[in-house]
This record gives sequence, structure tokens and C-alpha cells, in this order.
Amino acid sequence: MELLRTENVTKSYDSRVIIRDINIHLLQGELVSLLGLSGSGKTTLFQVISGLVTPDSGNVFLNDKNITGEPGNISYMLQKDLLLEHKKVIDNVSLPLVLRGISRKDARKQAQPYFEQFGLEGTEEKYPSQLSGGMRQRAALLRTYLCSCPVALLDEPFSALDMITKGQMHTWYLDVINKIRLSTLLITHDIEEAILLSDRIYVMTGVPGEIHNEIHIEKRRNERTDFNLTPEFLDYKEQILDILKQ
Ligand SMILES: Nc1ncnc2c1ncn2[C@@H]1O[C@H](COP(=O)(O)OP(=O)(O)O)[C@@H](O)[C@H]1O
Ligand SMILES: [Mg+2]
Repeated sequence: MELLRTENVTKSYDSRVIIRDINIHLLQGELVSLLGLSGSGKTTLFQVISGLVTPDSGNVFLNDKNITGEPGNISYMLQKDLLLEHKKVIDNVSLPLVLRGISRKDARKQAQPYFEQFGLEGTEEKYPSQLSGGMRQRAALLRTYLCSCPVALLDEPFSALDMITKGQMHTWYLDVINKIRLSTLLITHDIEEAILLSDRIYVMTGVPGEIHNEIHIEKRRNERTDFNLTPEFLDYKEQILDILKQ
């Protein structure tokens, strides 16, 4: 079932076209990556999809409803985790519930059971500055998840992490996504991350940014964590590198 769709989205800033004629879609339960070099307009596209920015032309549909320029339908995790340093982790995470009008006490109660699943047990009463980089990202992901929006947009959620932590986060994320089946659009400039995590990859290239290719990654979900050791993985990597080098 198709959940999200953009139709011919074009956006300029100061009469410079940043992204042109973007047509992408996301099916229920899918994880789709938007892969491109920095400056190719990925974040701009996310801002349009989230409704924070109105495109020059084109539309965004969620469950066939036109949501172009209408914020609040989709949860959006920004490139920086944006945890509020003066709030405890439990209050950071339960913020989306409070914003929906649930009392702080009830919001905490609803958020608490997820701490274990997100590898955050014991951090409830801590402040963000007391967490490691990986934990901060997990807290930001949990907050995104608790928005209970049908689609999550994640803008380079793992890019600031060191290689080892990043690898651990990938394994963890694949496991958690299998359980919660969140439909996700993920921005990344990391080819291996895109291949490892995605069902499909849109490769964005050029100035203005356009979708150059759509690549289906064939793998069974439960095989995913060892997938980067297979010949198929290297084939995908070579294919994408060729596209980006053009
Ligand atoms: N609000 C804005 N005003 C003017 N230019 C912008 C704005 N936002 C993004 N841009 C420009 O759009 C281009 C694409 O940026 P961005 O969408 O952040 O790319 P990416 O996320 O792929 O790195 C950049 O050249 C950037 O300077
Ligand atoms: Mg960006």
C-alpha cells in the first residue's frame, strides 16, 4: 500500500532551482533511502515533504490526501538530534505526547515502556549531556517514534557517530525497525548504510538535484546484518558509485 508520494516537486531559492521534478513514493512498512552527495537538495526535499517549506510546484500526498505545505502530518528527525539539554531524557522523549495535549505525567508513563526496547533503560532521569552519541540518537529516534505519525523522515541520523558506534546502531536499528515496522524515509550520503538498511534507494544527483536512479535492494530482512559481507552487497556498492561518479 502506498503511504507517501511526491509529484513533480520543484523548489528554488533566490531563483536558483535546488530540486527539480522529484517523484518518489514510500510503501507501508518500507525503509527507503535518499542517497546523494552533500548539497544535492536532500534536506530541502525533506522540508517540502514535512510541510515546513512549500514547493514552487508539485505536490505531496499522504494516504492520497494532498498535504503540500501542511506541517504536522509526518515526524521529522533533523540532522542534529536537537534534544533539549535542560530537560531530562524522559521529558525529551515524551515531548510529542505533551504537544498533543497529554499531561506530562501521563506522557512519561506512556514513553517509559519503550526505554528498554530502544536501549535506554536507566537513562530516564538523566540529561542529554550525560548520554553517549549513540544513546542520544536512540533517544531522538524514540521521540520521533512517539510522534505516532505514519511516516518518519530521518535526516542523516547516524552521520555524526564514529564508525564502530554507527555499525552498532545499524544492527540495533534493523532489529527495532523489524519490531515496530515504522515506514521510514532516510537521508544519507553513506552508500554502505543505504544498502544495508534500505528496501529501496533513490539516488539523487546533479544541480539542481534530481532522482537519477531507483535501486531495489533484494535481501531478506533477517539476513540484513551480515549482508555487507556478501558479493551482492559489493555489486550494489559498485553500481551506486558509478552513478555518483558520473
Ligand atoms: N533556506 C535556504 N535558502 C537558500 N538556499 C538554501 C536554503 N536551504 C538550502 N539551500 C541551498 O540548497 C542547496 C541544497 O541544500 P540541502 O537541501 O541542504 O542539501 P543536502 O541536504 O543534500 O546537503 C544548497 O546549495 C543550499 O545552500
Ligand atoms: Mg542535508
